[in-house]
Amino acid sequence: MSRTDTATPMSQAVPSSTTGVGSQDWLARSVVSATPEAIVVTDEEGIIRLWNGGAERMFGHPAATAIGQSLDLIIPEKLRKRHWDGYRKTMATGQTRYGDTLLSVPATHRDGHRLSIEFSVALLRDDDDRIVGITAIMREVSERREAEKALRARLAELEGKQS
Ligand code: HEM
Repeated sequence: MSRTDTATPMSQAVPSSTTGVGSQDWLARSVVSATPEAIVVTDEEGIIRLWNGGAERMFGHPAATAIGQSLDLIIPEKLRKRHWDGYRKTMATGQTRYGDTLLSVPATHRDGHRLSIEFSVALLRDDDDRIVGITAIMREVSERREAEKALRARLAELEGKQS
């Protein structure tokens, strides 16, 4: 796992001299830090550059330790190849299937337990239209997944009784 630099964690402080909904910078920072969903931004190499409070709560890693690390921090080992193949392709082509549909995958919490998450991604471009990063907005759906699994098991049991 690599650490490159130590950007200011976005889940922390909003500058008090430029507060108010009239300030674009303050507004953007406030939306990111107040949103309960996990918001994660990575750079061209897939290194984490932003990790909001939602991501801290969902995955258990504080922003100060997550920022600068590879996304492998939360990706279960068996899914890493698929993720990085897709990630590099999206970086190279500017195309993603998950701009308007949800990617539904398991993730690893800091304490080692698995959670089910769903997220979409968006490409971040600079003024020259070059892709400089990717952002993901992630929501935990573990409870729903468990309920679906229980329903499927019950259905299979009932179907088994009928035949
Ligand atoms: C637990 C966390 C994650 C897991 C398990 C995961 C897993 C995956 C998998 C399995 C794919 C391949 C999907 C397919 O072939 O249809 C993929 C693609 C991708 N992932 Fe991740 N990923 C995770 C987090 C992230 C995050 C945080 C970002 C961005 C900040 C991201 C960006 C992408 C991109 C851009 C692709 C390619 C999408 C495309 O082909 O259209 N992933 N990931």
